[in-house]
Amino acid sequence: MIGSGYVGTVVAACLAHIGHKVVGVESDSAKLASLARGKAPFFEQGLDELLRAGTEAGRLSFTSDLGRAVEESELTFICVGTPARPDGKPDMSAMEAVAAAVAPHLKRPHIFVNKSTVPVGAGRWLSSAVAEAAGNHRVAQLVRVVSNPEFLREGTAVSDFLHPDRVVLGADDAAALDEVVELYQPVLQQSFPGSDGRAQVPLVRADLMTAEMIKYAANVFLATKISFANEIARFCELVGADVQTVAAGVGLDQRIGPRFLGAGLGWGGSCFTKDLSAMIALAGEYGYQARLLEAAMGINADQRQLAVEKLLRRLKNLRGARVALLGLSYKPGTDDLRDSPGVDIAGRLIERGAFVTAYDPVVREVPGEERIRVMADAYSAAAGADAVVVATEWPQFLDLDWRRLRAVTAGDLLFDGRNCLDPAVVQEAGFVYEGVGRRAPLRLARDRAA
Ligand code: UDX
Repeated sequence: MIGSGYVGTVVAACLAHIGHKVVGVESDSAKLASLARGKAPFFEQGLDELLRAGTEAGRLSFTSDLGRAVEESELTFICVGTPARPDGKPDMSAMEAVAAAVAPHLKRPHIFVNKSTVPVGAGRWLSSAVAEAAGNHRVAQLVRVVSNPEFLREGTAVSDFLHPDRVVLGADDAAALDEVVELYQPVLQQSFPGSDGRAQVPLVRADLMTAEMIKYAANVFLATKISFANEIARFCELVGADVQTVAAGVGLDQRIGPRFLGAGLGWGGSCFTKDLSAMIALAGEYGYQARLLEAAMGINADQRQLAVEKLLRRLKNLRGARVALLGLSYKPGTDDLRDSPGVDIAGRLIERGAFVTAYDPVVREVPGEERIRVMADAYSAAAGADAVVVATEWPQFLDLDWRRLRAVTAGDLLFDGRNCLDPAVVQEAGFVYEGVGRRAPLRLARDRAA
């Protein structure tokens, strides 16, 4: 397993769990020591347990010796980062480094299973890059590439790997593809220990390019679905309809489905923006304009500005205003701050002169953004605030003591950027509730009586 980042560590631990012998390659000595102790260098539900179990069972180990790991393995998984460059195209330097590092160690045919999200066509590029690095064009014949896109979500990555909706494998070499199908049999059959006899998992066999395209198409569809929900939320605000009920009514149509219809501050994280940018850049290379994807990106950016506008509308002036932000990670269940809508919005507010205090159940600081004061709990973050913004739908926020919170805030505006709260509950505690595309809550019977 080359790459002990987020995907590589999860896949290594899970492959060991289903019975394979796995060696993870990591060049950073601190990370290596941590992994060898069964501790992932990031937080992910259930992962450390699998790392420890795999290590103890002798099926999982980590090394810095890439050459030896490749020589002693039948297959090499590539799970390196492909972050977006400023022009939107993926940065392939980590893939290039892998090609150069493995080249001297290829003595016989070897299967490379690529899990990194790479531009369509990069699977074929890998064979040439390895041959180029080896200085011998015949080495290209030894490289068998299988594309195996990952659909792991942070927070549920272990279960997403072990119980996926589907496994996608793509190759131009049928024998190589069959070998990787074999490797995945325990997942496909759900026959590994603890799989609870679940139904078999569908396998999609494809050629290399098609498998690479499936990965992008899945991610940009999900992102577009979120932007669609956010556009409908705008309509709902204009006409006075309620987007939550609209999403429920629409999502029950089996052709549409209820998931990823959640309106709010839009998506964050490391994948969606990167993959949309890559697709838009790819289209550009072929002289095609990906208008739908560009619109999805634009709507997502607008949702963050919407939060600022909503606060401005009510507070009139943000200079000197105090805003309490509940939630910093880009979604619940992770400490990941990459492209986090909450952090982005805090920056926009601070630029307009506001003071931002924040609370997040797992994030203790925002590196590079010292102007956000991270507090120990929601109540201290809210003390003296003119407005409270919920930026991440952590389950812990659902049953906060809203009366206690209102007692410490200076103002009464509560902007629920994730549409996760019950408007009636927070309104009863004395807040003015504002969501995204939600119908203004009906006045309570008690208020009407008063
Ligand atoms: C995503 C893809 O789901 C996964 O298949 C791929 O491998 C990596 O990218 P992830 O980034 O972990 O996974 O998170 P996901 O749960 O998909 O959420 C992404 C973002 O969309 C979050 O910021 C979330 O808050 C937001 N979101 C999700 C919405 O705004 N509305 C929704 O209805 C669903």
